[in-house]
Amino acid sequence: MTPARISLPDLAAMERLGAVIAGALRAGDVVALSGGLGAGKTTLARAIIAALGHGGEVPSPSFAIIELYEPPAVRLPLVHADFYRLSDPAEADELGLDDYRHGAAMLAEWPEMAGGFGHEPACLGVTLEVADEGRIAIVEPGAGWLGRGPCR
Ligand SMILES: Nc1ncnc2c1ncn2[C@@H]1O[C@H](COP(=O)(O)OP(=O)(O)OP(=O)(O)O)[C@@H](O)[C@H]1O
Ligand SMILES: [Mg+2]
Repeated sequence: MTPARISLPDLAAMERLGAVIAGALRAGDVVALSGGLGAGKTTLARAIIAALGHGGEVPSPSFAIIELYEPPAVRLPLVHADFYRLSDPAEADELGLDDYRHGAAMLAEWPEMAGGFGHEPACLGVTLEVADEGRIAIVEPGAGWLGRGPCR
């Protein structure tokens, strides 16, 4: 299937896309947020987490690697991960990622550093690129995302 391109000219557009993804998100899903330094991965993750109900600050997980959000603060259990600092994908297993993911959805920044999640049918690939003052999102749904969220 051809990836969809979504124009994100400003932060309000990021918040709208975040809300659409959050509205469709289910346990077992992965939103794989790719793109270079400063592409907007954490910005989109924060928009999703806010739309799931979280009211406070959302720390970037770049230092801790994994941040957890639990109901009732959010609609469903959520793992927010930033794999940038992994030196080997096997370290994701050593962190206990599978246990954290059990019954949860995951937002994964730098997913390729954890070996990638594109083989999972419940993976929504979102690659952010700088475009003029804003961003473009290239959205590649796994089979489990067809017909929902931004893939309607
Ligand atoms: N659609 C957009 N339009 C304009 N500015 C944006 C947009 N999305 C994000 N930004 C801005 O881009 C900057 C970098 O965003 P962010 O920290 O989310 O990037 P990142 O991909 O997480 O980077 P890193 O890999 O370094 O963690 C922020 O200042 C943010 O406000
Ligand atoms: Mg980031």
